[in-house]
Amino acid sequence: MLEWPRSVVWVPGSLSGMPTLGSDVTFVRVTAETPQVTVGPAHPVHRRALGHWQRTMVSAVTDPSVLRDTRAAYDAVAPLYAELFSNVLEALPMERVMLAAFAELVQAHGAGPVADIGCGPGHVTAHVHALGLTTFGIDLSSEMVALARRAHPDLRFDEGSMTALDLADGVLGGILAFYSIIHTPPQQLPVAFTEFQRVLAPGGHLLLGFFAGDDALPQEFDHKVTPAYRWSPDSLTELVRQAGFVEVARMLREPHENERQFQHGQLLVRKPHKPGSPR
Ligand SMILES: C[S@@+](CC[C@H](N)C(=O)[O-])C[C@H]1O[C@@H](n2cnc3c(N)ncnc32)[C@H](O)[C@@H]1O
Repeated sequence: MLEWPRSVVWVPGSLSGMPTLGSDVTFVRVTAETPQVTVGPAHPVHRRALGHWQRTMVSAVTDPSVLRDTRAAYDAVAPLYAELFSNVLEALPMERVMLAAFAELVQAHGAGPVADIGCGPGHVTAHVHALGLTTFGIDLSSEMVALARRAHPDLRFDEGSMTALDLADGVLGGILAFYSIIHTPPQQLPVAFTEFQRVLAPGGHLLLGFFAGDDALPQEFDHKVTPAYRWSPDSLTELVRQAGFVEVARMLREPHENERQFQHGQLLVRKPHKPGSPR
């Protein structure tokens, strides 16, 4: 059934591999609790123009079962995940370099706190806090949030989804999304990037951790917890560019022996001071 959305996210421009729909595509913002997929462009002209493709596309984009499944999967493994990964940064100098650069840039632009979105047990949140940033964590999994709160009682951790953030426009100086976008189905990722763009202040930075691949289209890979996707660095960069970000730097490193045998990537981008400007 189609309904008018209660709130909408505007995604400027076209999405790669999909039809161009004038200047805007409308997505309904869903939360993990959204009872059903409700879709509908905000303007009658768009409603006529988008037609069947829009209904199909938005259904795929906003399917709340993906969030439910991801949350349940991470709830089930949270203690094991925390045990395996909470100290992992000690052995990852390249990631620490990118986090340090991110922290320095956020401090230089001084525009608000940093949200670690998909924070898991909170070790990356705590790492950047120790670098001098005001940070808090957000995660879909209530078990992860509980573990993060227990491990880091001085920091704030909230439940939430990157696809519908409970944050006002422009309040953040930076966003970390460390290997958390990997579980977002590719069609849904523009919704998350538009949310990141909305909640970041102009000049704010976003650091994405991801698994890299060579194919132009994102590839699903065999992840032990829940379906996950790897991206070619160019395709991922193009997607964040379409959401309005400009690239600052990217880092690719080879996997260690005990890691998933894909290249590990970090993509650092910035929200420009004026939309469409490189600065
Ligand atoms: C691979 S773990 C990464 C955790 C941590 N960032 C790290 O680097 O170890 C992915 C995390 O993202 C969270 N996550 C997945 N989809 C999410 C979403 N839509 N919104 C918020 N968190 C999400 C999961 O619950 C999980 O804790």
